[in-house]
Amino acid sequence: MGFGYFDELNYTLANEDPALETEVLCPSQGRIVAVGGSGARILPLLSKAPGEIHIVDISKAQLALCELRIETLRKLTHEEFLRFWYPLGAEGDPALQRVWRKECFLRMSLDPVSASILERRFQDHDWDAITLTGKWEKTFRFFSRLARIFLGAGVLRTLFSFKTLEEQRAFLATGFPRTRFRALVRLAGSAKTFNALLYRGSFPKNNSGIPYVRYYENAFFRLFSNGLARENFFLQLSLLGGIRNHEALPLEADPGVFMAAKAAVDQSRVFFHHGDLISVLEGLREVDFISFSNVPAYFSGDLERTFLARIRQSLKSGAKLVIRHYLHYPEGLDRSGYTKVTGKYAQALDREKVQMYDPEILEFGL
Ligand SMILES: C[S@@+](CC[C@H](N)C(=O)[O-])C[C@H]1O[C@@H](n2cnc3c(N)ncnc32)[C@H](O)[C@@H]1O
Repeated sequence: MGFGYFDELNYTLANEDPALETEVLCPSQGRIVAVGGSGARILPLLSKAPGEIHIVDISKAQLALCELRIETLRKLTHEEFLRFWYPLGAEGDPALQRVWRKECFLRMSLDPVSASILERRFQDHDWDAITLTGKWEKTFRFFSRLARIFLGAGVLRTLFSFKTLEEQRAFLATGFPRTRFRALVRLAGSAKTFNALLYRGSFPKNNSGIPYVRYYENAFFRLFSNGLARENFFLQLSLLGGIRNHEALPLEADPGVFMAAKAAVDQSRVFFHHGDLISVLEGLREVDFISFSNVPAYFSGDLERTFLARIRQSLKSGAKLVIRHYLHYPEGLDRSGYTKVTGKYAQALDREKVQMYDPEILEFGL
């Protein structure tokens, strides 16, 4: 696995829709474990009031970002949280917003290494929001420039204007330039492009049996058919280059989720682990839930076959695991002791707002 790729701040928005995890996680579980990433899965998980949440990442920068998200949850109101992370351009004088953001940041109690990583990041961006500055987000913003060229501004305006799914589906069937869209995906959605722009050789090895272009094309058409583009942060990032309206904000920005997470955060014990997920799990016991992100897509050799066996002694009977497969399915994986329960969550899987993953949900023991 290319640990080099994961050393820096790659993810700052949300590249997975945590609505799925919150559907699987029962309220008030004792001990849950989640890969950190951008942190946008963490607040929705906290909203379910777990006794303990263990946030794990091999990247110190990603962990720092998770810490900041939690601190802003603690110290800011919902309106301030949106201004800090998700300004949509109507907040007033940009210079004053920057001064305000810096003051907010300096009020946060962060681990000193985290504070210095993030302060540098904010300084590099003149104290604008850093939510779209991860390498992953920048790659998709670049794709949005291609989308504008291939599809044209008019098509994009129409696609993001619909208020009903029926209208959107009718447009896809009749007015949407499918051939041009396929050409766009063919250009943008190859391992070569992703490795060059983002993963520097660490892009997961595709063993899904589906060629890259069809994989991405299918995912986009599932998104276009299952939900409104104007409510989808991922579609807006990849086709418009940023989030344009409140309805499209990721789940952590939802007022109900935010308030529930805020109420829970001082009751839950929050732990940060800078290290490898499987090693951290091996050191824990009585775990009720694990949000793996798509970390196993980067495993190879013995680890990809045995990681579930290695963590069996750490799990409570009935524990649930959400693994997001992404192009690479672990080969020869020993699933003994686990039951696949993915089928129970079919509706949540359809509603998922990124659709680039094939999630697997497992239940341990019983
Ligand atoms: C696996 S990435 C997923 C991002 C996205 N879905 C993709 O494939 O581009 C999410 C987070 O996992 C972290 N990560 C990768 N491998 C890890 C490991 N073995 N243990 C803990 N965290 C890991 C990365 O640093 C990153 O912040």
